[in-house]
Amino acid sequence: MPMPAWSAPPADWAKVPVHTVKLFYPGQASYDWVRSPAHRRADKRVKAGEPCMSCHEGEEDELGKTIVKGGRLEPTPIAGKVGSIDLKVQAAHDAKNLYLRFEWKTQMDRAGQMHDYMLYDGEKWAFVGGPRSKDKVRTGAEPPLYEDRLAIMIDDGKIPLFKHQGCWLSCHNGMRDMPDEATKAQVQAHALLGGALKQTDVRKYLPNTRTAEMAGWDKTKPAEEIAKLKAAGEFVDLMQWRGARSNPVGMADDGYVLEYRLFDAGKGPFSWNVDRKTMTPKFMFDASKVGLKAITMDDIGSAAKPHAIIREENAVAYDPKAGWKKGDVLPGRILSRADASGSAADNADAWGTWKDGTWTLLWTRKLDTGHPEDDKILKAGGVYTVGFAVHDDNVTTRFHHVSFPLTLSVGAGGTIPAVTVP
Ligand code: HEC
Repeated sequence: MPMPAWSAPPADWAKVPVHTVKLFYPGQASYDWVRSPAHRRADKRVKAGEPCMSCHEGEEDELGKTIVKGGRLEPTPIAGKVGSIDLKVQAAHDAKNLYLRFEWKTQMDRAGQMHDYMLYDGEKWAFVGGPRSKDKVRTGAEPPLYEDRLAIMIDDGKIPLFKHQGCWLSCHNGMRDMPDEATKAQVQAHALLGGALKQTDVRKYLPNTRTAEMAGWDKTKPAEEIAKLKAAGEFVDLMQWRGARSNPVGMADDGYVLEYRLFDAGKGPFSWNVDRKTMTPKFMFDASKVGLKAITMDDIGSAAKPHAIIREENAVAYDPKAGWKKGDVLPGRILSRADASGSAADNADAWGTWKDGTWTLLWTRKLDTGHPEDDKILKAGGVYTVGFAVHDDNVTTRFHHVSFPLTLSVGAGGTIPAVTVP
């Protein structure tokens, strides 16, 4: 696929400094936990706004190694997981764009680019596999199948504590896979989250959207007040590059965190490829283009076989009479770069390649996306707080590796100064 015309990343990345960022496994160390007496003698200082790094600088490997094994912060460890990941980050910018290059080693011996696959059992289609945290995957009844991801959170100072405590402002008890996880019924009964937002679980949110510093997930401010916070830019930008759901079309998604983890306005790169009424796929592979209408479980990881259905490239409408055989597999998601639009389609230049156990990801982000209502607008000379996360080896939710907050500048200063290129 050709690079968009506006993209001009550095001609020689070897000339751009490499910053190694330590990502560690946080388990259930939530906003609530770091403010609780269990965080011995640190709770009051965290509440007062002290940066995590003032006590934990250089401790990432140690923290990750301890937590990932299981214990008070990880009740359901995943065997064999590493405690930390070295994320290599390079940054450059010109008058229009921020250019990021990432490199990290994966634990799996293939690219994590399969997600929500559907398997035909001879009579019907059903989802197959899932993240390693899922019960049926833990017992071996289903295979681990989940995409790799790299996420970036950005704040421009509108959330003052983010600079010091980063992602820990967004991670709370009550969320999916966290302590005191809200039930589906509880969320559905909640006027704002279940009613207006039509959600069935709790995801990331910022404390400014709740009625008090330590109020629970359900103590939301009125919708009008949250709308005012959004208009004032009091959200953080959250963008995720996804191995299965965005990378095959050279994109990353675009979202933000405020009262929930929400997508920007418009249409992102992925949609469901499943008709929920009939539980059949909506599209299949176009055999005239890729030589097959479906893949099999054995094809997973094969570079010779397609792994994503792309509307404008290799898809045709699903034909129920195409002679489906037991063992046929189709992606349960349909991707499209052509159909992506609006603010949700801002990250239209994010290309990852996996080789010999390493992802290399080149990501261009417009400094000014033109969508200040749900993006952070970056300016030459600006210094921003960023947090990075990697979901590696078939995991979702808390089973990722995260960074303490760092600063990225467009020009000079901060932990990661983006080099100015012509
Ligand atoms: C005032 C110093 C201080 C600050 C600030 C602080 N911590 Fe801690 N933290 C500690 C100490 C001391 C321990 C070890 C307590 C223990 O072993 O029980 C600890 C333990 C932890 C642990 C548990 C490690 C384990 O082995 O179980 C995590 C996770 C953690 N801190 C995360 C954070 C995060 C995230 C922040 C910022 C939001 C933060 N800390 C801010 C002092 C601090």
